Amino acid sequence: MAMKSTATLDPKRIEDLTERERARLDGRTQASAAMYRRARQSLSGGVASTYQAREPWPIYLTSGEGPIVYDVDGNRMWDFHNGFGSMVQGHAHPAIAKAVADRVKLGTHFAATTEDGVVVAEELKRRFGLEQWRYVNSGSEATMDAIRIARGYTGRETIMKIFGSYHGHHDAVMVSIGVEYSRIGDREDYASLAYGAGIPRAVTELTVAVPFNDAGAMERRIARLEAEGRKPACVIMEAAMMNLGVVLPEPGYLEEVREITRRHGIVLIFDEVKTGLTIAAGGATERFGVEPDMVTLAKTLGGGLPSGAIGGTEEVMRVVEDGTVYQVGTFNGNPLTMAAARASLFEVLTPDAYDHLEELNDRIVAGCQAVIERYQLPGYAIGIGAKGCVTFSPTRIVDYETFKENQDVAVTELAWLFNMNRGIFMTPGREEEWTLSVTHTREAVDAYVAVFDEMAHELTEGTP
Ligand SMILES: Cc1ncc(COP(=O)(O)O)c(C=O)c1O
Repeated sequence: MAMKSTATLDPKRIEDLTERERARLDGRTQASAAMYRRARQSLSGGVASTYQAREPWPIYLTSGEGPIVYDVDGNRMWDFHNGFGSMVQGHAHPAIAKAVADRVKLGTHFAATTEDGVVVAEELKRRFGLEQWRYVNSGSEATMDAIRIARGYTGRETIMKIFGSYHGHHDAVMVSIGVEYSRIGDREDYASLAYGAGIPRAVTELTVAVPFNDAGAMERRIARLEAEGRKPACVIMEAAMMNLGVVLPEPGYLEEVREITRRHGIVLIFDEVKTGLTIAAGGATERFGVEPDMVTLAKTLGGGLPSGAIGGTEEVMRVVEDGTVYQVGTFNGNPLTMAAARASLFEVLTPDAYDHLEELNDRIVAGCQAVIERYQLPGYAIGIGAKGCVTFSPTRIVDYETFKENQDVAVTELAWLFNMNRGIFMTPGREEEWTLSVTHTREAVDAYVAVFDEMAHELTEGTP
């Protein structure tokens, strides 16, 4: 990863380009504007989830096929957003569409386990090497239940997470993410800060955050918590952070975390809601070769249907089997979702598919990195599996602090506008990365690189 960029970007040029691109996007999305005016009369903020909101209005989509999506204005775009990293299969994949259509005719919900649910568990066991599985309906449910299982198993209440990591929208993990940098506190003793209102302080204080890529800080905090009589039940973490762009673990870090948690009898949960099934067939667990005690999955698992799963060792999951912890849910293992997941795992996300994703990701990362070097931009391209991003930062991001200090928010916003105006549908927000699908082609990733090149040219040489 080359870091020899030298160009100093002119803030006035960034501002002018941003203004121009904003006006252009507004002009191209007037049907979205009209939909927004209608939607907000009945749908809070005009959207189904706050993460879909955007100023001055969200972009409303109508349909998708393979790597392409269309918005309500008829704009045709390569999809690099892919439903917040869920649609690695591409849109309307024939194998998944068939599985769902066949299942619909047989009944879509019983609250009784179907064979597809057993087959999917067998395959997840094979891929992730964890013996016992259960289903839920979202990533939030997966992390919520995994944490409860860890608490039930250890009999402890405190939990540990990585500062800045997102693990869903339940109270225990809506802590110490996306907060103002000034309020973080000392690195050795980060504050536990609620992410938004409505989260009880009593719950927030049970969640303790430590920096990513710093096993020493984790171990010291565990030792202090133990001395205070509140040793954590679990460490929940992404093995590679996927919400500060992409932040990979430093060599040896995950192994140290594994060793520390094992030595202290703390359940290690890899939250693989984003990494599972996208960065390898067996997620980060396979890719980095470090075995956690539990894994949480969602997003890609359901092939576009709401899904989630929790895997664990025989020992940890015994508290579920023996009824000590209630792991329940009306729609868990829903037949439609399980039919889609089965088709996805066996017919779509095959070894060839992962080879294809790797090849394309190498190409897009190399293409973006070449642009950065040509224009000497302060930044770098980084990727793994189906995922990656350009991080606009003069130094490498290793944790939340380096991200907050160094990431150039203005250029990140400009890049999004540039993409949207040139047929690249990307996730809004400064924290997100691209997700490729098995239906993406060289043409798709070359289009992405070409738009980035155009922006780099205008940023450094062109006239806004
Ligand atoms: C790592 C991680 N865990 C959990 C979640 C929550 O998943 P969901 O939005 O399906 O509840 C997300 C969502 O982006 C995530 O990125």
